[in-house]
Formats: sequence, C-alpha cells, structure tokens
Amino acid sequence: MMVMVVLSLFVKVSLIGGVVEMNGKSIENGQLILQRFKQDWISAQKVVTETETTETQTSVPKRVLERIDDIPEIWRKPDSDNYYKCISRPKNRPKPNKTNGYLLVHANGGLNQMRTGICDMVAVAKIMNATLVLPSLDHDSFWTDPSDFKDIFDWRHFMNALKEDIDIVEYLPVKYASVKPLLKAPVSWSKASYYRGEILPLLKRHKVVQFTHTDSRLANNGIASSIQRLRCRANYEALRYTAEIEELGRTLVNRLRTDNERYIALHLRYEKDMLAFTGCSHNLTAEEAEELRVMRYEVKHWKEKEIDSVEKRLLGGCPMSPREAAVFLKAMGYPSSTMIYIVAGPIYGSNSMAAFRAEYPNVFTHSTLATEEELEPFKPYQNRLAALDYIVALESDVFVYTYDGNMAKAVQGHRRFEGFRKTINPDRLNFVRLIDQLDEGSMEWDAFSSEVKNLHSNRLGGPYLRQVGESPRIEENFFANPFPGCVCNKSQEMITALKLDHRIGVDSQR
Ligand SMILES: *[C@@H]1O[C@H](CO)[C@@H](O)[C@H](O)[C@H]1NC(C)=O
Ligand SMILES: *[C@@H]1O[C@H](CO)[C@@H](O)[C@H](O)[C@H]1NC(C)=O
Ligand SMILES: *[C@@H]1O[C@H](CO)[C@@H](O)[C@H](O)[C@H]1NC(C)=O
Ligand SMILES: *[C@@H]1O[C@H](CO)[C@@H](O)[C@H](O)[C@H]1NC(C)=O
Repeated sequence: MMVMVVLSLFVKVSLIGGVVEMNGKSIENGQLILQRFKQDWISAQKVVTETETTETQTSVPKRVLERIDDIPEIWRKPDSDNYYKCISRPKNRPKPNKTNGYLLVHANGGLNQMRTGICDMVAVAKIMNATLVLPSLDHDSFWTDPSDFKDIFDWRHFMNALKEDIDIVEYLPVKYASVKPLLKAPVSWSKASYYRGEILPLLKRHKVVQFTHTDSRLANNGIASSIQRLRCRANYEALRYTAEIEELGRTLVNRLRTDNERYIALHLRYEKDMLAFTGCSHNLTAEEAEELRVMRYEVKHWKEKEIDSVEKRLLGGCPMSPREAAVFLKAMGYPSSTMIYIVAGPIYGSNSMAAFRAEYPNVFTHSTLATEEELEPFKPYQNRLAALDYIVALESDVFVYTYDGNMAKAVQGHRRFEGFRKTINPDRLNFVRLIDQLDEGSMEWDAFSSEVKNLHSNRLGGPYLRQVGESPRIEENFFANPFPGCVCNKSQEMITALKLDHRIGVDSQR
C-alpha cells in the first residue's frame, strides 16, 4: 500500500512537471516533453481519480490518502481531475535592469481586500517596471487594526518569492526621502494600458508615486496571461502569513481534525456591520432592527439608507441568518454531529446562534478552539484574527459562505486553485423561497431537502470558466475564480498537444 502511494505521488509529480513544461510551449524539446506528458497522463488518470490533489504550499498535514469511493458524498470534492495549477514564470524573460520609479501603495479595506489589492499592485509594478515598496496596510477602516505588513505577512518570503518578477524594497531609498510622492487613486478595474499610458509617464517624471487605494484597481479580464499568472504567484505563493499566525492556524486545524474528523468552515456573515449595510433584519427583534438602522444612517459612505428588509431578503440580498444556515446544511445532508467552524466576528442578534446550536451543537470559533493564552497576542488585531480564520477556512473539508463578500471571494478562489476543494455557494434567492414554504407548512421536509440538494448540484466549487460581464462590477472576480489564468484544462492541453504532434510530426506511437 505504501509503495502504491509513493508511486502514485511520483507519477503525479512527473505529470504535473510535464504539463507545466508543456505550457511553456518550448518546441526544441517539445518532442520529449509531449511524449512523457502523454504516457504519464494516461497512467496517471487512474491514480489521480483515486487520490485527492494535495500539492500545496501550505504545511498543514493532509489526511491519509483515501479512495474517492470511500468518501461520503457530502464530503467529496467536485470532479476536477482535468485541471491543474499553471502559474509558472515565463522563461527567457529576465527582470528589467532599470526601474522606472518607486511605487508606494496603501492597501485599503479588510484583510482580504488588502490581500488581493496587494497582488494587483505586484502586477501593476511589473506592468510599469516599477520598484514596489513593501505595502502599508489600512488602519482606519471599520476594523481599525494597527497591524502592518510585517505583522500579518511573512515579508521576507514575499520579497524572496517574487524576486525574479519585480524588485521589492523594504523602504523607499534615502535619496528619494525628500521627494514628495505623487498621490494617486488609480481608476478602478483598469487595464494594463491605463498603467502604461497614464501612470507610467507620471512615475517617470516624479520617480515616486503613491497609490492611496489598491482595491479592485486591475481588471479581471483582458490582461496578458503572464500578468494573470503573476497575480496568482503573488497571492498563492508569495503571500504567506507570519510564522505565528500560520502556526496557530495549523494548531486549530489539527484540533478540529482530532480523530481524523472532517469539518465545515461556515462563513456566517451575520455581523452587525453587514446587517446594517444590507438593511437585513429578518428574525431579529424590533430593537435590534432599529439599532441596525441607526448604524446605517451614521455611516456616511453607505449610500442606500431606506431599505425594505423583507423585500431585500426575497431578492436574495441578505446574508443567511444562523437558523437559515443550519436548515440549509441539514437539507444538504450534513448530520447534526458535524464539526462546524464559524468564520466570522461576533454574530449579531440576541438569540441568533441558539437556533444554530440546536441543530449543530459542535460549533467552534477561534475563540473556543484556541486557549486564552494562545489568542492573547492576536486579540486586539482584527486582521490577524481574520488571517487565522482564512487558514482554517482554506484547509476545511467544506467551505460554505452565506454572503458573497471579500473573504468568501478570496477563500473560494484559493480553494479552486488548490484543487477545487468543496465550496458551497448557497443560492439565497431560491433558498429563501423554499424555506418560507417549509415554515408555512406548504412543503414537506423531504421535498424541501431534495429541492435544496438539486439547486446546489452545480454550486459546489467545481471548475467552470470565470464569467465575464458587461461591466467589471457584475463579472466574476479574478481572485474568486482564477480560471482561466492560473488553472488550466488538461483535456484542452491534450487536444492542443495532439494537434502540435501532427504539425511537428512527432511519432506519438513510439
Ligand atoms: C520593462 O522592461 C522590459 C525588459 O527590460 C522591456 O522590454 C519593457 O519594454 C519595459 N516596459 C516598460 C513599460 O518600461
Ligand atoms: C543589464 O545590465 C547588464 C550589465 O550592466 C548588461 O550587460 C545587460 O545588457 C543589461 N540588460 C538589459 C536588458 O538591458
Ligand atoms: C426566529 O425564527 C425562529 C424560527 O422561525 C423563531 O422560533 C424565533 O422566534 C424567531 N425569532 C425572532 C426574534 O423573531
Ligand atoms: C476543458 O477542455 C475540454 C476539451 O476541450 C472541454 O470539453 C471542457 O469543456 C473544458 N472545460 C472547461 C471548464 O472549459
């Protein structure tokens, strides 16, 4: 058995090596690579279907390899054997000798928004041949966390992992200290041409440009593939949390996995800010609804003030309440003994969680899984706690999100990249309709449950091409689904390879 496992891992590694090479499309040694690729591809098919894809940079120990058939349906990840990571750096394209200037960036928003923003800034620095100064983080947003880059991320690893791509420096060199940086908020969802055409001349003239915002400043689509890959190398290879955060994250995962248990990470975005912002007060008391309304009016930059909670919910615009989430999981077939890690800050509503616990008593959070002592250094820092949750969510057997916010986007994309780990995206619009029928008594449990399952058979985080839209705001976010860009399709490669064979006359029977 052990030999089988080792062998299969070997085959997998060589398969992936072959594919990555292939993707460089180097014709000189194309013959050799194509052949190795095809043989491995065929022999690997069987093995791959029997094992979970576990190539990952993170160091959380993996469950012993299991046969797919032995994994209960509810824990099985979507079929994705034909897909693999493809983010290698283009060869023969050395980093430019000369910098066009220094780019200071202030990442804004919560942890996940900053995270993806930073990755975009790596790409922007590449586009402009700029030197990136280690980003500064947001201290003023809702979370008011004073942590900086070095408190959250392993900065040395970040600089090192990207050193072949761009220059990153810790500080602005002293000779520029007296230069007043040109402040700029780049236009949202810009293409490379904007940075080359409008920002680059400014950078060359001023030598130091400071971006005041980093959120969604680079388009999802229509970006050169080398840049798309760089965004992913930045996000999935270069950005690691500090050793302390990674280690505690790993500890929490191990505690959840004691006795080889599986767990769901549930992003239950039933938090005060989200409810105030969306105007959702379903199943809350009148006092609580009023408190949310007051908060909404107080936050000036939230534009929508008068919101009809009932209507908003029926349109699918509300995060699921804890009770709705519990009923959802039950309908999807998760037994009440399931271990559930709640990814969220404090859940709003005096009695919200009681309804959840009644259905699923094995509920954990970072506060209940970690000891007081372990958590002490993290506690005042919302972003470090969010990083901890990120790790536990990324490693979970199933990730479920009840509202499509920045964390849900970042984590689901990362899970896709790591081999399409199961990620359930509830269809809130239809679910709300169904649960109301259930509560009114016009639908039986069995019918309800089977409708819910049907509704979600294609919402389990499996591979599909990122959806483009008429405007960037409505299209799928690049980091929520890095396919195409950073995930490739083997079947597609096979077809291309066979065509290539034909053209260059490789004897594929040999
Ligand atoms: C960046 O550097 C590369 C390599 O030296 C060069 O080919 C490219 O034109 C440069 N781009 C810009 C925008 O300066
Ligand atoms: C980079 O600098 C080295 C040494 O100064 C020089 O030999 C080389 O030609 C330069 N490469 C480019 C692309 O300018
Ligand atoms: C929330 O919903 C549950 C189930 O329908 C109900 O038992 C409970 O009373 C509700 N709570 C509030 C505050 O409306
Ligand atoms: C992957 O490639 C195969 C073969 O071309 C194709 O049938 C399939 O639809 C592709 N998958 C996606 C998600 O594009």
